[in-house]
Amino acid sequence: MKDKHCISATEMLPSEQEAYDICVAAPPPPADGLLASEPVLQAPAGDSMGVAFAVNGLSVGFAEVSESPGMEGATRFLSEGFPRVVPDDRILRVRMEGLKPGTRHWYRVGAARLAHPIGYWSKLGDIAWSAVHSFVTPGPGAPSRFAVFGDTHADIPRMARATAKYRELGVPLVVWNGDVLPSKIDDRESLVRHFIDIPDNAGYAADTPILFNCGNHDYRGDWAGKLGDAMMPRPPCEIAGRHPALDRNFAVRMGEIALIGLDTGEDKPDDHVANAGITAFSRHRQLQAAWLEDALSSKEIAEAPFAVAIVHIPLFDPDPDANPGTVLVNYAQWQKECADLWRPALERHGVGLVVAGHTHRYRFDPPAPGRPWAQLVCGGAGDNTFQTLAVGDVENGELVVRVHDTDSGAIAAVHRFKPRECGGK
Ligand SMILES: [Fe+2]
Ligand SMILES: [Fe+2]
Repeated sequence: MKDKHCISATEMLPSEQEAYDICVAAPPPPADGLLASEPVLQAPAGDSMGVAFAVNGLSVGFAEVSESPGMEGATRFLSEGFPRVVPDDRILRVRMEGLKPGTRHWYRVGAARLAHPIGYWSKLGDIAWSAVHSFVTPGPGAPSRFAVFGDTHADIPRMARATAKYRELGVPLVVWNGDVLPSKIDDRESLVRHFIDIPDNAGYAADTPILFNCGNHDYRGDWAGKLGDAMMPRPPCEIAGRHPALDRNFAVRMGEIALIGLDTGEDKPDDHVANAGITAFSRHRQLQAAWLEDALSSKEIAEAPFAVAIVHIPLFDPDPDANPGTVLVNYAQWQKECADLWRPALERHGVGLVVAGHTHRYRFDPPAPGRPWAQLVCGGAGDNTFQTLAVGDVENGELVVRVHDTDSGAIAAVHRFKPRECGGK
């Protein structure tokens, strides 16, 4: 048995021909039941898009992307691993590259088992494909629209209402602002269950890319360091070109809005006994101060008329007795160390709004003398509060942020912001 890919018999050793024939003749492994979740779009960039999905067996993954809903001329990408794809039995991740900023793309993901009909020779199985979905890449030409929600803490019904709302509204990009688990990440299956194959939230990010921002709970547990198995870091070229130790901070444009992701880390000092001496959040915050200045100075970000910073722990609290996160009692209600380190760049570059979470209670702190930026604290988790979905749009030259109470379906508040003086140049 030979096919067009086979070298001629005169070049092939008999044993090699035998192996070739066995490999070609072997039935490809079936793909039945291989896909275990909808795709989760994540870590979007202007020219690339990440996607992760769950599988039910050891397999390799694919994504195909096209600028046509019919998938004409689609480009295929392989799941992670270079120069050889690394199979995985639970979560596969693919980065689609070479995309156009601010442009709608259609895509599908797939998975296939590998067989080894003889020795180390590999044979790819049938590919199980998802349905075709679409997304818009960030960029100056993207819609001037975003949303933020967080502190879902595995409250599945609440999360489902929030994710349904942003899909209903057609928001093209959403920041998930941390604190995903009830307490900590104990094993890999927790990553699957809370980030990829979330009960009653199927498809929550199939057409809506997620920018994930860590909360303090996302740093807890023995498997927290494996978060990247589910939620990919920024694109490798972006990380290498800036600050290699910071692989999750993001600075992306959605039309006239620049979105800046900053990581406030744990809610207790590094020398708190609960951290066991294995954390370096103070250093992490210091590194981010340098990153923040670079990010806000980059041409594309500096030109945005509106700049919004997203953090998990607030950078301000109006209560003078609120815990600033610098003491060894209880936990931070706001993060003074971050505020001190990041405030100069935020103010110098005219960042007008900081969106936070963590306290689980919606609050709006208008600008005040000595603090030119407003702070919107999103709610969620617990009793006597509501899950917040903050949706920002540019309307008539203003950034309008509508605070949705997704528990009741009402709009709890609307806040309006003028363009920054240094943006849009
Ligand atoms: Fe929380
Ligand atoms: Fe928190």
